[in-house]
Amino acid sequence: MDLLIPDKVHDESRQGEALILEPVGKNNGRKLYIESYGCAMNFSDSEIVASILAEKGFETTSDFNNADVVFINTCSIRENAEVRVRNRLKEFAGAKFRNPGMVVGVLGCMAERLKAKFLEEEKLVDVVVGPDAYRDLPNLIDQVDSGQRAVNVLLSREETYADISPVRLNSNGINAFVSIMRGCDNMCSFCVVPFTRGRERSRDAHSVVAECKDLFDKGYREVTLLGQNVDSYKWSRPHPALSEGDGSEEDAGNKVSPAGGDFEGAAAVVNFANLLEMVALVSPELRVRFSTSHPKDITDEVLHTIAKYDNICNYIHLPVQSGNSRILDIMNRTYDREWYMNRIDAIRRIIPGCAVSTDVITGFCTETEEEHNDTVTMMDYVKYDFAYMFKYSERPGTLAAKRYADDIPEEVKQRRLAQIVAKQQEYSFYRMQARIGKVEKVLIEGFSKKSDKDYCGRSDQNAMVIFPVSEDYKPGQYVNVLVERTTSATLIGKIV
Ligand code: 5AD
Ligand code: SF4
Repeated sequence: MDLLIPDKVHDESRQGEALILEPVGKNNGRKLYIESYGCAMNFSDSEIVASILAEKGFETTSDFNNADVVFINTCSIRENAEVRVRNRLKEFAGAKFRNPGMVVGVLGCMAERLKAKFLEEEKLVDVVVGPDAYRDLPNLIDQVDSGQRAVNVLLSREETYADISPVRLNSNGINAFVSIMRGCDNMCSFCVVPFTRGRERSRDAHSVVAECKDLFDKGYREVTLLGQNVDSYKWSRPHPALSEGDGSEEDAGNKVSPAGGDFEGAAAVVNFANLLEMVALVSPELRVRFSTSHPKDITDEVLHTIAKYDNICNYIHLPVQSGNSRILDIMNRTYDREWYMNRIDAIRRIIPGCAVSTDVITGFCTETEEEHNDTVTMMDYVKYDFAYMFKYSERPGTLAAKRYADDIPEEVKQRRLAQIVAKQQEYSFYRMQARIGKVEKVLIEGFSKKSDKDYCGRSDQNAMVIFPVSEDYKPGQYVNVLVERTTSATLIGKIV
């Protein structure tokens, strides 16, 4: 799936992180432990789950040994993600042995994929809950308390949790994820997401803008709008009487209210470019990021909107998956090499200096050496700032699993992967070097991991920047940093 990007989540150190929250409702004396794997959407969903349970008086703990309810929010995207979750469940077994009343729940994509089978396979699991059924969690926990095991994996065509104000977990109070849509209709042949997360649906634009405003008022300075394919965001106003136009897509053009919240006279249909603009208008001091873009859908209108607003970051994650048109075709990506290059050219033309990152799969079914080489030359063409690279991993139930043999030997996949990883290191280094001597506008996120004498924060183009602490500036403020040198993944400089 196309969503994994934000480094904060991709960062291996965050995978499996326990999330902490305060109870909102009357404390019920029970403690919840929740940890998340996989994409940014899963981390964002865990905040929704936490919010639902905080309303019921659950407190959280960062130690699963002390918990009454232990949840693991799972990922199914590649086989090794699932293996990791199974291993983690084994580690919970000891705690459950010591505290037999402990409720263990599996949430998210693996729950959806394996459904009730999970309860047979993993004897210690009491609850299995798919991504659209989190509102049912309090009932399901009650069911377990009364001695039954509980499953709800119903997918919904409507659920967006739009009305739930997520509790921000382990937050630095500066960056937040805001989910704008759920599910995916794309059916890329390798991908399990359309099966685990269901049909695509867009969240009410009012509620997205209201959430961003609320975050800004609480001191947050960066929001990342999340969706599996943000470019297909489309939300229609439910009350035609309030809208000016006829609701047609053509009509959606430029009529979004500049107030970003006052929707009188706003377009009848809000597309992604419109939504970006509405969020950008919340405040020029609020940075806006988004993820993930799909090459087939990213429009010039979106690119012009990014170019128009200084606070929409110049960074696009545009997964290519393969540089070869035949492979793209059997991946069902619905674009070819030329189309992707055209989109890159448009980005370079409309947003000069925009950083671009990607996802690549090597060793997809039937991929030849020449076809693999097309991926390598695509990397030469784009010179990505960053890339997430994976060996193809067959997922049960996907179109590729049904239609094509997973016929590329493991050692060939490994060699191809090593080749593109080396190539990407070259280009990441090249992009980093090009920033030396430049001044970057950085949003200070906090102290650097290594030293409290340094601050860290991200540049507009999403590069991590480290610089000496200054008494004059605090986390949450913007500073200009002159880049003096780089490591392989970080820009190092000083405030100017
Ligand atoms: N095998 C390997 N990589 C995959 N991805 C999705 N499905 C698979 C799979 N079956 C990768 C894609 C996607 C990223 C999030 O994960 O590159 O963009
Ligand atoms: Fe992304 Fe394609 Fe999977 Fe949808 S089906 S989540 S677009 S990889």
